Amino acid sequence: GKVAVMFGGTSAEREVSLRSGAAVLAALQKQGVDAHAFDPKDQPLSALTSAGFDRVFIVLHGRGGEDGTMQGALQLMGLPYTGSRVLGSALAMDKIRCKWLFQAQGLPTAKFLVAEAGKQLNYQDILQQLAGKVMVKPANEGSSIGMSAASTAEELEQALAVAFKYDSDVLVEQWIQGREFTVSILNGKALPVVEMRTPRSFYDYEAKYQSNSTEYLCPAPLTADQTAFLQNAATAAFTAVGASGWGRVDAMLDEQGNFYLLEVNTVPGMTEKSLVPMAAKAAGLSFEQLVLQILEQTV
Ligand code: DAL
Ligand code: MG
Repeated sequence: GKVAVMFGGTSAEREVSLRSGAAVLAALQKQGVDAHAFDPKDQPLSALTSAGFDRVFIVLHGRGGEDGTMQGALQLMGLPYTGSRVLGSALAMDKIRCKWLFQAQGLPTAKFLVAEAGKQLNYQDILQQLAGKVMVKPANEGSSIGMSAASTAEELEQALAVAFKYDSDVLVEQWIQGREFTVSILNGKALPVVEMRTPRSFYDYEAKYQSNSTEYLCPAPLTADQTAFLQNAATAAFTAVGASGWGRVDAMLDEQGNFYLLEVNTVPGMTEKSLVPMAAKAAGLSFEQLVLQILEQTV
């Protein structure tokens, strides 16, 4: 049947989605799938039915595509789609609720506080509670958009002002000094771990999409025990939020050797340089094979 590759959209990650979606569309077409681009920014969802699409490959990142709303709409329209269902998508999009679930499941995650727009905050007090340095994140964003680090009251005020531009709920997380990793999940199984190394202070938007100085190591140079621990924790996190099909769980390792889970992504980046395709390659799957496996999961 005819496949709609849904990408673009209206979230802050539109540009990333355009790149991911173009790569997925090209790979599907190369494999002989009758696939076409569908940007929900330009067309109403009713056009899916009138154009005769019978399933949807979702490559929308962020709000309106990765957060359960699109999944719910497609569900009601009776159109099969790739990836997580409504609940898993919605929970994974919300970094705060995601971390509450990690804690409930005994999965390691950095200590954090929730800041709500319009509420009085004591910056010194927050810094003191979180060991003096924090990472500030809008609760429902991706690609590090709206994120910054802070270690003084002034920086924290500034970081919160930036984050509140994107969301009324903001996560203030204890800073983890260490290495960054990601675990891709396909059909319920963890793929080889990727380590991301950047000369920047963290793996931010520029390090992800613009910089040539980001290094990727896959399989990540960890001991067998560390790899197994991280893959198990990532798989458990994916299950805890109710995600399904495919996705990616981000994590850190501090200088004392402790892992911390950051979040679950239910529609991770799919550009040819992205992390899931890199992990798939290390597992012997080409980009085309990966995309076909994700498409086969549509229910
Ligand atoms: N939010 C971006 C697309 C990712 O997780 O890869
Ligand atoms: Mg994310």
